[in-house]
Amino acid sequence: MALLYKSDPVRGERWKALFAEHAPDIEWRAWPDIGDPSEIDYLAAWLAPDDLEQLLPNLKVLFAVSAGVDQLDLARLPADLPVVRLLDPGITQGMCEYATWAVLSLHRDMLRYRQQQTARCWQAHRLQPAANRRVGVMGLGAQAQQILATLAPLGFALSGWARSAHQLPGVTCYAGEAQLSAFLGQCDILLCVLPLTEQTQGILNSRLFDQLPQGAGLINMGRGGHLVEEDLLGALSSGQLSGAVLDVLQQEPAPAEHPFWGHPQILMTPHIAAMTQPDSAFGVLLGNIRRFQRGERMVGEVDRGKGY
Ligand code: GLV
Repeated sequence: MALLYKSDPVRGERWKALFAEHAPDIEWRAWPDIGDPSEIDYLAAWLAPDDLEQLLPNLKVLFAVSAGVDQLDLARLPADLPVVRLLDPGITQGMCEYATWAVLSLHRDMLRYRQQQTARCWQAHRLQPAANRRVGVMGLGAQAQQILATLAPLGFALSGWARSAHQLPGVTCYAGEAQLSAFLGQCDILLCVLPLTEQTQGILNSRLFDQLPQGAGLINMGRGGHLVEEDLLGALSSGQLSGAVLDVLQQEPAPAEHPFWGHPQILMTPHIAAMTQPDSAFGVLLGNIRRFQRGERMVGEVDRGKGY
């Protein structure tokens, strides 16, 4: 029984050591040294090889090494191949840290103070109490729920929106297309952690920005495909939005000429909000392999119809 790993080689060494120590019955192989392909039961990957069916004829499960699976092009994978998202507590922790930093950066006007520092300008602006700042999260899955729980003690007025109805303590929840507008109308800071699907592609566009209170801030921690980048530039220059924190872009790495690099109202980071941590993710992956071996449903199994 073998598992083929196709992702970051440095983290791969740690995964390999963990498997050798705790699951010696599962042989670890690292791409591109796949050995006899017919022996490979499991693939753990960020991107799947194009000709997966031909290449790994006995593949039983595809484990994403990420929380999102849009990069895998699900439509091209064998229809009956289970695909599993990685619900790594280390990824969730990273998302919570980044979300807190991003919300506080917008809440405390850090983009403006950064510009002032560059201009050697010492000037204070009025401070808003957190209770007056309404933070809305788009997506109410595992990551979003932890993010909301992390933000709650800071005192923000919290809300969330998702395709289906949710109930979360201390969070006003909105659901579906019908309640999107009401949700947006009360978001001073909008944070996106939606999965990227056909329905959510380009959802952060000028039509959506126009429904936010004037001067709202935007945080995108989902995927670059959620944001229509020209629409963000338009909303920032008209004042409809006051600032944006972006961890993901349409094209990664961002090309040198991308207008976001030097934009005074944009804080941009290179897709680092969270990273898979082999030490915390190992137990999740191994637990799922054992569940599969026992014929049980795995944690994070993707609904191929929904795309997440
Ligand atoms: C990273 O982007 C992930 O989906 O885990």
